Amino acid sequence: MQGQAVKASPIKNAHPHLQYLDIMVVDDESTICETLLLYLQHLGVRHVATAQSGEIALEVLEQAHYDYVFVDLMMPGLNGIEVLKKISEFDYPVSVIIMTGYPSMDIVMDAMHSGAADFLVKPFRFEDVRLSLERIQKVHQLMQKNWLLNEELAKKKEVEELNRQLQKRIRLQTILYNVIDSLSKINRTDNLYQYVVTKAVEYCNAQKACFMLHDQGNSHLLALAQHGLPYFEPGVKAAITKDAEGRKILDFQFLAFHFGQSTDPLVPVDQVWRNHDFMVIPFNIRKEPFGLLLIGGKQGKFGFDKEDEFILKFLAEKSGLNIENLALYDNLKHSLMATLMTLVSAIEAKDAYTQQHSSRVTQYALDIAGEMGCDHDDLQRINASAPLHDIGKIGISDNILNKPGQLTAEEFSHIKTHPLIGVNIVTPLGLDSEELAIIRNHHERWDGRGYPDGLNQTEIPRLARILAVADAFDAMNSNRAYRKALSLDICIKELNAHSGTQFDPEAVKAALSVLSRTVT
Ligand SMILES: [Fe+2]
Repeated sequence: MQGQAVKASPIKNAHPHLQYLDIMVVDDESTICETLLLYLQHLGVRHVATAQSGEIALEVLEQAHYDYVFVDLMMPGLNGIEVLKKISEFDYPVSVIIMTGYPSMDIVMDAMHSGAADFLVKPFRFEDVRLSLERIQKVHQLMQKNWLLNEELAKKKEVEELNRQLQKRIRLQTILYNVIDSLSKINRTDNLYQYVVTKAVEYCNAQKACFMLHDQGNSHLLALAQHGLPYFEPGVKAAITKDAEGRKILDFQFLAFHFGQSTDPLVPVDQVWRNHDFMVIPFNIRKEPFGLLLIGGKQGKFGFDKEDEFILKFLAEKSGLNIENLALYDNLKHSLMATLMTLVSAIEAKDAYTQQHSSRVTQYALDIAGEMGCDHDDLQRINASAPLHDIGKIGISDNILNKPGQLTAEEFSHIKTHPLIGVNIVTPLGLDSEELAIIRNHHERWDGRGYPDGLNQTEIPRLARILAVADAFDAMNSNRAYRKALSLDICIKELNAHSGTQFDPEAVKAALSVLSRTVT
């Protein structure tokens, strides 16, 4: 038995409270070990082991779980308090009963601080052992319950953390999806820059951002879009300091500044960024830098984090591709537009009297539309389509176009096809429906007697109604082969006379208002 842990089988008539317990007795006195072993078996303890040194006891305890340990205070090698301290480091609860023949207040205090469950003073009676067991059994049960609760709490926290991470991933995936989806729907670069700025601020919970283009050859950045930074209205130039940070911006490096670290690389906007976190995200096209996003004023106390950086870099990467595609499309559109404008010039060149007609009509239409309060998009549409409104005349015979006298019905029906021919010609430009309507419907009349669709009043798209007035005014106000230009007074009278029959009264009113300013 010396130096070994001994196992013993439980006896019959197990004590109802003790039949599930495993207990170890640790004492260098073998008689104590044997006596307690027999008594505990008698009480019905499921399993009792003995060890005659602290070292052996700890070895066994590392291999198997025991609920209670009776340990002698004074032993060679590790003493009872040292064994107790080692056991208290286990990650499951074990109740330790210290047995001693010489209890002093210091020893008791030390043992209690180290987590002793009870004391047995030698020599003890069996009854003392039984009472001690009952006492610590209650404490043990509470401890176990507490341990289980803690474990449950830890699991709950783990689940909460997993949930938090899952929500974060869902949010991130949603953002990435939305970015890709939205970018695919943007077909103008100015809208794209504003989208980048607005979404960067929203996704990163920031207060201000601007998108800037590198002004080639200068130490400048050219603002293209902004949010929360009215100083950086599109078109504003920002100079950059010549210090290290400024050079990094010119080199289009990724930068992240933190509170109190701002070195104000943009001049004169030191007030803008001072005391704010901000980041500089470079935008590349085919690995060549062309612009950057500055974002700052992150709300909350921790500043921008890795997730913000990831989202912004993703936005930069995907937008770079879109900007490249839009630039390619713009180039194609411009070159096609140039070809079509050559056609328009060719048509106008055939007749000395109609030269520059399209560009004048465009300008009149823009003036009238401005007077009617049309928005920027509508003005852009007029700019794109009005110069091409008569391009379909390329399909009409010169003899008919330049016929000095009255047209026959057949000739007139031929003329009436030019809006539809025009629409077919410009189709590759990818104009939107309102832009196409300017070409298709510029000969419709307010009273429904126009062509090609015979629309009336507000059925006629608004921009086409505007163009009809501008077109008619230029026709009256220009020299023709068969007559001189009509005077402004007569033009005004004619517009008034046909307001509400041929022309939209609102467009006539706006045209007269523009003309009155031109005259004065
Ligand atoms: Fe026309």
